[in-house]
Amino acid sequence: MAAGKGTRMKSPLPKVLHPLAGRPLLGHVMDTAQALQARRAVVVTGHGAMEVEAACSAYTGATAQFSISYVRQEPQLGTGHAVQQAVPVLADDGVVLILSGDVPLTQPATLLHLLAACAGTHLALLTLEMGNPSGYGRIVRRADGVVQAIVEHKDASAAQLAITEIYSGIMAVPAAQLKRWLARLDNKNAQGEYYLTDIVKFAVADGVAVVAHKINDAVQVAGVNSPVQLAELERAFQLREAHRLMEDGVRLADPARFDVRGDLFCAHGVSIDVNCVFEGQVNLGEGVSIGANCVIANAIIEAGAVIHPFTHIDGEALGVTVGAGALVGPFARLRPGARLGAEVHIGNFVEVKNATLAKGAKANHLAYLGDATVGERVNFGAGSITANYDGANKHRTTIEADVHVGSNCVLVAPITLGAGGTVGGGSTLTKDTPAGALSVARGRQVSIANWSRPQKAPKA
Ligand code: UD1
Ligand code: CA
Repeated sequence: MAAGKGTRMKSPLPKVLHPLAGRPLLGHVMDTAQALQARRAVVVTGHGAMEVEAACSAYTGATAQFSISYVRQEPQLGTGHAVQQAVPVLADDGVVLILSGDVPLTQPATLLHLLAACAGTHLALLTLEMGNPSGYGRIVRRADGVVQAIVEHKDASAAQLAITEIYSGIMAVPAAQLKRWLARLDNKNAQGEYYLTDIVKFAVADGVAVVAHKINDAVQVAGVNSPVQLAELERAFQLREAHRLMEDGVRLADPARFDVRGDLFCAHGVSIDVNCVFEGQVNLGEGVSIGANCVIANAIIEAGAVIHPFTHIDGEALGVTVGAGALVGPFARLRPGARLGAEVHIGNFVEVKNATLAKGAKANHLAYLGDATVGERVNFGAGSITANYDGANKHRTTIEADVHVGSNCVLVAPITLGAGGTVGGGSTLTKDTPAGALSVARGRQVSIANWSRPQKAPKA
């Protein structure tokens, strides 16, 4: 169900498209459905239907073969009415698992238990004990414990309001029965809505067993209705992710100051300092160390590399690789297509884009390497840059092995610097340089002896 408006989000974005850990809320729910190997997913849309459908297809289409249909619910007359819209696309022989697009953190294992409780024939409800059950549907049981009904908060008697077992909003129900029960719903209740929860009464009347699968992890059924709840669930998600990584041996300086918005894979012996953000696909090799305040997206960082604080790495589609034992940062920026070999050093305020640096190459201070191929052991001086862009096209710079580029040089591409050569500081090079040569391209120094600086005229 993803048709609701989400008024309390106070946002133009449909509620189910708000991101949690970098993915739309609905994306998390779709991932869960996919993890259960659902035969098909039916998404009920209403508010912002076009946007929700487009985002959902774009998000899930990329991951796997998984059949998704959309049905529109307009206007929104309640949860029972929402599920009624899906009836035409549901096969009679299956079990329907009803999920909400705004409840992102349900674990597939929990739902497998719920499906096992349903066993293809029962009505299975996911329930929870709550200290403060206010607002939720209450699970009404007979004296012998058999579930009789769900009563919505607004329809509940004083005695029912005292019940602390609530309905999570998630149920598993045989499709054929569901269709029959939905056809019997009415809206004669406090909210004038078609309540999905009324099907419990029909199941009881028809002699179908209603089983409650009670869990005690409230996060798994927590919904997002406001920015505050979204932030709470974001932290819950991140804490869960942090614990999973720590159980695998990753040392996190502070699990409360750690964010993964994608997939982070860590080999043994990885340590991560505070306030780091990982996005997209990131692989950290054995013994990698990440300093505080780094943002790392779509990158492979090989064994023993050290990323110093405040480094920004974003590989986007091309990716970034950092070779074994490389040192990067502090305050370095690696952009798409940066490929650093083993033991490369990239220091503060150095930007690397679409450039390959072979083993042992160094650019330690204030430099730009773009569209370049840099050989082994090259030393690229402070303040030097590749001028790769002529205003219309990009050109490559090739720096062969063991070249030493002095400080504050401009290498105007396309250009090749021959192996072992040296470039004098302050040079602007526009032509290739021979191997082994010293190349200097700047005005010669002139010194004028006994130079007197201008003086202020004496006051009259
Ligand atoms: C529902 C349950 C309640 C349960 C609670 C758990 C009903 C009648 N009540 O109440 O027992 O404790 O969830 O959170 O089911 N939606 C639609 N179309 C609609 C109405 C809702 O798609 O016409 C969607 C919403 O977008 C949301 C979900 O259904 O994703 C739940 O709707 P909501 O209004 O939040 O239900 P509650 O009143 O909280
Ligand atoms: Ca709700």
